[in-house]
Amino acid sequence: MPTTSTVTGNTEPTAAAVVARIDLGALVHNLAVARRHAPHSRVMGVVKSLAYGHGMLPVARTLVRAGCDALAVARMEEALALRQAGIEAPLVVLEGCIWAAELEPARRHDLQLVLHDVHQLEMLRADRGREPVRCWLKFDTGMHRLGFDPAEAQPLLAQCEALSQVRLEGLMTHLANADDTNDPATPRQLARMAEVAALADLPCSIANSAGILAWPESHADWVRPGLMLYGASPLLGRSAAELGLRPVMTLQAPLIAIHGIHAGDPVGYGGTWRAPEDLPLGVVGIGYGDGYPREIAPGTEVLLRGRRVPVVGRVSMDMICVDLRGVPEPRVGDRVVLWGEGLPAEELAEKADTIPYTLFCGVTERAARIYREQGGGRRAG
Ligand SMILES: Cc1ncc(COP(=O)(O)O)c(C=O)c1O
Repeated sequence: MPTTSTVTGNTEPTAAAVVARIDLGALVHNLAVARRHAPHSRVMGVVKSLAYGHGMLPVARTLVRAGCDALAVARMEEALALRQAGIEAPLVVLEGCIWAAELEPARRHDLQLVLHDVHQLEMLRADRGREPVRCWLKFDTGMHRLGFDPAEAQPLLAQCEALSQVRLEGLMTHLANADDTNDPATPRQLARMAEVAALADLPCSIANSAGILAWPESHADWVRPGLMLYGASPLLGRSAAELGLRPVMTLQAPLIAIHGIHAGDPVGYGGTWRAPEDLPLGVVGIGYGDGYPREIAPGTEVLLRGRRVPVVGRVSMDMICVDLRGVPEPRVGDRVVLWGEGLPAEELAEKADTIPYTLFCGVTERAARIYREQGGGRRAG
């Protein structure tokens, strides 16, 4: 598994065709937005899945430097990669251990494991006589994905307390529907978690980005922002700009050809789109092989020279075609924006019948990540 974002093929950033520009200043700004919404909570920045495709190490380093209290990843190997790269911040592994052999590295690297299943407790019980492992107990308050039944909270807490090899750091749950501010499922989850939290004097963590922005009663002791750190809106019907978030990733690709086509000419595989009149067609060097979604609806747009330009025909592996009628002087080599600055990822996600999470995580290794430091300096990842 790649543990850092990479520049593939080209090591010279300006020579890379498809570029994901990562604005680390925007990341720090978005962290401050999370803090403003939850001023009494500590922040566990979520950097799993290569920091949602933005590059785990540069993102982790920036968050830690900006005062993020802890980082969260999904898996052990992600946590170990962070430790190997010298990240010393508190690290929470949201899926915890799968195999007993992982307990020793968890201890050695001071990782905090989320316990969500009896097999993990059994592994720890069998690990008698060892130094304590830091753990969070996760409860399923309604999502039915990971976590113990809240009805078992009391005996579970007693069992953990009786095990010298377990040091409980806190209690956790995850919200399933917080993106919809009218959904009664969230208050139900919060009520269940309140009952669990009342049983122990331990820190509690509930809120993801949507919880932070829309459900103040979910803030508790620790919040766990992911998507909002990367500058996209987690809330239905609310834009990132409205929420004061700045896009961190801007995905760009070059215009690689311009040619005239005639009225009635079909464009791309299957000829699903035909030119309504003679027009200039542009070919942009990005496709589903780079992470641009193939499933876009007609009328999806990209940005060229500050203008919105429609994508026409099917997305292929390495290319898309655009109708250049609205652009006065397009040139081969012009950088086209697929999402990011000036074109919100949520907008494309909607056109592709998906969510910004999958767009970000889907950007492949082929795209060079170019980082803009907080002060404005640039480097390749
Ligand atoms: C357990 C847990 N907490 C927090 C997050 C962050 O969620 P979001 O990106 O919606 O803020 C996730 C993301 O999937 C998660 O699985």
